[in-house]
Amino acid sequence: MHSIFIPKPLKNQSIYILAIESSCDDTSAAVLQDKKVLSNVVATQKIHEEYGGVVPELASRAHQQNIVPVVHQALVKANIDKKVVSAIAFTRGPGLMGSLLVGTSFAKSLALGLGVPLIEVNHMQAHILAHFIEGQGDGNPDFPFLAMTISGGHTQIVLVKDYFDMEILGETLDDAVGEAFDKSAKILGLPYPGGPLVDSHAQKGNADAYPFPKPKVDGLNFSFSGLKTSILYFIQRETAKNPDFIADNLEDICASIQKTIVGILMDKLKKASKQTGITRIAIGGGVSANSGIRMALKEAEKKLGWTTYVPQFEYCTDNAAMIGIVGYLKYKEGLFADQGVTAKARYAISNR
Ligand code: KG4
Ligand code: ZN
Repeated sequence: MHSIFIPKPLKNQSIYILAIESSCDDTSAAVLQDKKVLSNVVATQKIHEEYGGVVPELASRAHQQNIVPVVHQALVKANIDKKVVSAIAFTRGPGLMGSLLVGTSFAKSLALGLGVPLIEVNHMQAHILAHFIEGQGDGNPDFPFLAMTISGGHTQIVLVKDYFDMEILGETLDDAVGEAFDKSAKILGLPYPGGPLVDSHAQKGNADAYPFPKPKVDGLNFSFSGLKTSILYFIQRETAKNPDFIADNLEDICASIQKTIVGILMDKLKKASKQTGITRIAIGGGVSANSGIRMALKEAEKKLGWTTYVPQFEYCTDNAAMIGIVGYLKYKEGLFADQGVTAKARYAISNR
């Protein structure tokens, strides 16, 4: 990363960021005018469904096919010409290397071709800074706040002191929480990604039907692999007695699994709030869509006096608008990357 001199936009002159996200299995491009999203196009790769999980090689090939039309559509929907773009922002990491490479090389070429600066973005910072997109969700949290990023790839509790001053307080030692949902769903014979399906069945079931043990993990870290194993053994035991056990009890099983997972997340979040004295709590990542976690946060507002922030759904799952808001914030600070920048599969959140 290095800073280069870019003339400051004149007062009242807008900054237009074209943003690209390709870290996992969604190809996305967005255009922002300052903090406002003009377009946010996401091409979700359906190919992985038949494999029950993301296949990295197929993901990068699909990104290659999608990236040109997705970027084109983002510009068309935003109704701007590429000549007005002030900078190109892209996801540098963390994520799947092959997927990141597609977005990174495309962004570098586009910036070079248009003669505009390049801005590299940390995907995990972007999930958190999505809260600063204009006119969405529950408004902007004041600093410092706690952010819990919960997705198919990550589970972290982050102390956010400023836009680019973040500290991880706890994270998963094994599976991410989205994986816990998806793997449980797979055990139940539900298609990938099963998280949203577990959620919808759970809403009709009895959450106390089958109590699953919560893992004992020190501090603010998480672990979900034990839960997956106990669900697997439980299902094997019950189906040996009744082959139709899953079909007969799907809603109660899903509700019980969801209650356990949400309980694990909320226990750690409460601990983090107590430890830091911070009651402004934001969430981000695909699992933020979960009805159980949303309800638990609302309850904590009433019972614990928290102020909670849940982004609008389209900014929870992987999307380029969140990359664009970071692009805007970095543009204002003159934080640009040079053409030598490379993708980073593992990328610490504290980096600027
Ligand atoms: O942020 P995201 O789109 O991609 C990653 O960066 O992983 O998150 C996807 C994850 C998947 O594991 C999916 O099952 C989960 O979020 N998810 C949900 C719900 N909606 C999406 N999990 C539980 N309940 C939901 N409603
Ligand atoms: Zn993500």
